Amino acid sequence: MLATTTAPPEPNMKFFVDTAEISEIRELAATGLLDGVTTNPSLIAKSGRKITEVIAEICDVVPGPVSAEVAATDYKEMLREAAVLKAIAKNVTIKVPLTPDGLRACHALSSEGTMVNVTLCFSAAQALLAAKAGASFISPFVGRLDDIGMNGMDLIADITQIYNNYPAIKTEVLVASIRNPIHLIEAAKMGADVATIPPSVIKQLYSHPLTDKGLAAFLVDWAKTGQTI
Ligand code: G3P
Repeated sequence: MLATTTAPPEPNMKFFVDTAEISEIRELAATGLLDGVTTNPSLIAKSGRKITEVIAEICDVVPGPVSAEVAATDYKEMLREAAVLKAIAKNVTIKVPLTPDGLRACHALSSEGTMVNVTLCFSAAQALLAAKAGASFISPFVGRLDDIGMNGMDLIADITQIYNNYPAIKTEVLVASIRNPIHLIEAAKMGADVATIPPSVIKQLYSHPLTDKGLAAFLVDWAKTGQTI
């Protein structure tokens, strides 16, 4: 009889949370379902805290990748800022914008073994460039494309198809600017590696009216039995 080989199962989709609010991160980390965190300059500004302090605190709570974004727009200054951010903790992932300088910084950082998340991706061509620059993650923004009347999920379909054509590409597709659970489900159907999700949308993932209704009925019936376990 011929020996059969079974391909190893694909790892599950990773869930990152898109926030710099430490209380929300602690709450989500306690669920055991959180794989990482992404921040950006707007989220840091919203937190009202110093970037180095808040990133250090997040890295203490979440062992997975924690994206901290450079604010500089030129290559040299990006590398200087990246050195400051990298020194905070081993799990800091340097986030750079999808610009010529950002991709040059991505190439330099990834060549020395630093994880890089290339952000503000709005086209498949940009995603190809990021993969060539050695990015660990590419962040296509689906919600912001929807906002301008385009279909953000079409971009995820294009990027996953292109990356799948080249097994040597190790860049993970990190779906960003997620606005609702449908974005997440569509991304998972396409086999995207990671989704970074706002806390409000993570809470929505748990909810279904039939779950609530069914549980209420079970509790009523159980009470009638007078039993305890
Ligand atoms: O962190 C990047 C991305 O997820 C931002 O999302 O909602 O500001 O478009 P949004």
